[in-house]
Amino acid sequence: MTPVSERDALLAGLDAGWSKADPSALVAEHEGLAGTPLADVYREWAAVLAGAPDLKSLQERQVAVLGRERGVLKLALSELGKLPAEERRARGAGLNAMRVGLEAIVKARREQIEREAEAKAAAGLDVTLPGRLPWVGKAHVLAQVQADMLDLFHGLGYSVYTSPEVEWDEYNFTKLNFPKDHPARDAHDTYWIREGKTLLRTHTSPGWVRAMEERKPPLRLVFPGRVYRAEQVDASHMDQFHQIDGLFVDRDVSMADLKGTLATFARAIYGPNVKTRLVPVYFPFVEPGCQLDIACAICEGRGRLSDDARCPVCKGSGWSELLGAGMVHPNVFQAVGYDPEVVTGFAFGMGLERIAMARYSVPEIRLFLENDVRFLRQF
Ligand code: PHE
Repeated sequence: MTPVSERDALLAGLDAGWSKADPSALVAEHEGLAGTPLADVYREWAAVLAGAPDLKSLQERQVAVLGRERGVLKLALSELGKLPAEERRARGAGLNAMRVGLEAIVKARREQIEREAEAKAAAGLDVTLPGRLPWVGKAHVLAQVQADMLDLFHGLGYSVYTSPEVEWDEYNFTKLNFPKDHPARDAHDTYWIREGKTLLRTHTSPGWVRAMEERKPPLRLVFPGRVYRAEQVDASHMDQFHQIDGLFVDRDVSMADLKGTLATFARAIYGPNVKTRLVPVYFPFVEPGCQLDIACAICEGRGRLSDDARCPVCKGSGWSELLGAGMVHPNVFQAVGYDPEVVTGFAFGMGLERIAMARYSVPEIRLFLENDVRFLRQF
């Protein structure tokens, strides 16, 4: 602080000019200052002002010492009137010098406090560090995987058809050949909106019914979307997830077309050498129905690891299920007004989360919906 030397200079000057007068007499009448030599009083006030820890207390101390109404200096000045003229002039000049000195100290201390605050703010700031990059938003990992899948099917001639998440029982079940009171309905663990009437769709297959009721064959469509099932939630099950169904309807469509399409799909996502197999499975809306399995990526289809231990990923089977598929059931064609003697078709349906988990080795399905940026930023 300039103040130390400046203050000392001021003090020295004041002391010099003051030695002619009797400082203690000047303030003798003033409470708290009585009996104190004025130079000492000045030092004391100067120290009070110079020692203010922050701007707020500096302001308070300035008012107490230099305040026009009730500052101690003002009080000392008001005593002057009682003195004879000559003495009054000398002491007045002394008190004025004191005011000038104290004001300079206030100014110096204020500047010093401000400089200290700036230095403190700047401490810990390394200007050579690289700047912080702004966060850039991007598509959720499931949206990315869905876009990739749709892109792939687009290349095979499919276009996108979307349908409602709140669906009629009629479309979710009945027209897809789920007979009333058939146990296949129970397998879907439905969230009902109105029991037996409206529900949260349990799969994206009701989109086929809507598309076929609206359009004439041939059709080549994919149906992406969110689906709901009242499942017990665990590391690999959520009560909401995403599916993409596909539907191909024309004359003379065969199981061979289905197999070729699925093989193309599997090679596109798992590489040209992936091994696949079709296994017969029951779904009400296809006949025959099947599931496409791919050889387990961990044990390469052997079911055993190199030390002969059971593969933990496929649980020793050597295969993992990728999707459900089959030839569209004649009852479904009938329900939408197509003639099953004329039109044929295949369909398939897959879970997006399962594909994303396999692609990125994600161990836990709940991560997709937790919205933790530490997870989401990795994709
Ligand atoms: N919709 C079926 C499901 O959820 C999947 C599927 C689609 C099966 C098309 C066969 C054909 O589970």
